[in-house]
Amino acid sequence: MDKFVIKGGNSLNGEVEISGAKNSLLALMPATLLANGTFTFYNVPNLSDIKTMLQLLNNIGVSTSMDMVKKQIQLDTTSIKSFEAPYEYVKKMRASIYVLGPMLARYGEAKVSLPGGCAWGPRPVDLHIDGIKKLGADIKLNNGYIFAKAKKLQGTKIVFNTSSVGATGNILMASTLAKGTTEIHNAAIEPEITQLSDFLNKMGAKIYGIGTNTLTIDGVDELYPTDETIIPDRIEAATFLCACAIVGGKIKLKNIIQNHLTSVLEKLRETGVKISTSENEIEIFSDSNIKVVDIETAPYPNFPTDVQAQWIALMSIANGVSKIKDTIYFDRFKHVPELNRLGANIVVKENVAIVNGVENLVGAKVMSTDLRASASLILSGLKATGITQVLRVYHLDRGYEAIERKLQRLGADIKRVKGEEY
Ligand code: UD1
Repeated sequence: MDKFVIKGGNSLNGEVEISGAKNSLLALMPATLLANGTFTFYNVPNLSDIKTMLQLLNNIGVSTSMDMVKKQIQLDTTSIKSFEAPYEYVKKMRASIYVLGPMLARYGEAKVSLPGGCAWGPRPVDLHIDGIKKLGADIKLNNGYIFAKAKKLQGTKIVFNTSSVGATGNILMASTLAKGTTEIHNAAIEPEITQLSDFLNKMGAKIYGIGTNTLTIDGVDELYPTDETIIPDRIEAATFLCACAIVGGKIKLKNIIQNHLTSVLEKLRETGVKISTSENEIEIFSDSNIKVVDIETAPYPNFPTDVQAQWIALMSIANGVSKIKDTIYFDRFKHVPELNRLGANIVVKENVAIVNGVENLVGAKVMSTDLRASASLILSGLKATGITQVLRVYHLDRGYEAIERKLQRLGADIKRVKGEEY
């Protein structure tokens, strides 16, 4: 297993190109199962989660090819041979459950492993299952698998009691080929769901209300292949902004959509950093003198839970005490004990982290536990005096394309050490 070795203290300066959004592509790739033919995706990030989804689709019978120099993948869905998402893929990556809706809608059956828990606690899929049931499918749970069958899904009204990106995406995909009209109320409005809706409409679907909490889908008989350019990764962008805010410096982010980052930019400005924006670029200047700013994570357009860990890292060196509340995932604080090993002073009470800002962090060996937790450790390592070793960086490779190379180009002293202790 690889680790990162970071010598903290360097400021960040220069330009960084933000990659395509993992979470958008992970929904679009399964959506190809809804039609017959060849799809091309552009601005594809080189990430292990994308490779896992390629393998899963390959296993189902999709021919896949990848050109990472051009940042493109091609998927050909003409020879589907299986309707199963086995445990070996789903346990690696929960987004595998996205194949349930499209497979069922197009082929009348799907067998998908239940994902189980994740590093930060239970993450149920009841909303996916209940929604699919409401569309008329016969669902059985057996041997850790969801078995779903339906000759033809039937349009219906679905009201989610919780805003869920995954369940909205799954039901949306399933309902495009259902008979009649489906309404999804309290639908997620994350940019990744908007891109999925636009993509499905490009394939011939009839989805209305895109970008609002109520989606109306008129089922169609057939969908067709198309191409799509993946939107920029707003979470990667937010991570680089927090990195610069912590260590100081001046960086420009290229290939972003400013509107997707409104809540993060608003909160960052409150910390005292200077930010200027154009539609596709953001420039941040920080003297590393950070004011405390409380946040509460909530569904888009509010502050993303996927930036909670990075925000805690930032607040750990701020001037005072801050409160960071996660209303999406109550247990998502595995990074806190590791940040404390770097000298931070953070206490978690239920779903609130109380962060007492410290003057400085000090390098240590720390352990990655999940994707965004790992990012917070890197950020703190960049700030800490001395050497920080971040172990188990395979978590980072799931969702950050070449993070060490991007940081090196900005002036950070970070290197990957291959295959050592874990
Ligand atoms: C997606 C993102 C993930 C992000 C999360 C919240 C992808 C691949 N992943 O995950 O990075 O952290 O959105 O923004 O896009 N819930 C239920 N029952 C369900 C489904 C969800 O109770 O059937 C709850 C969850 O426990 C959580 C909340 O709903 O409290 C939101 O989760 P959801 O939006 O579904 O997250 P994911 O789609 O899994």
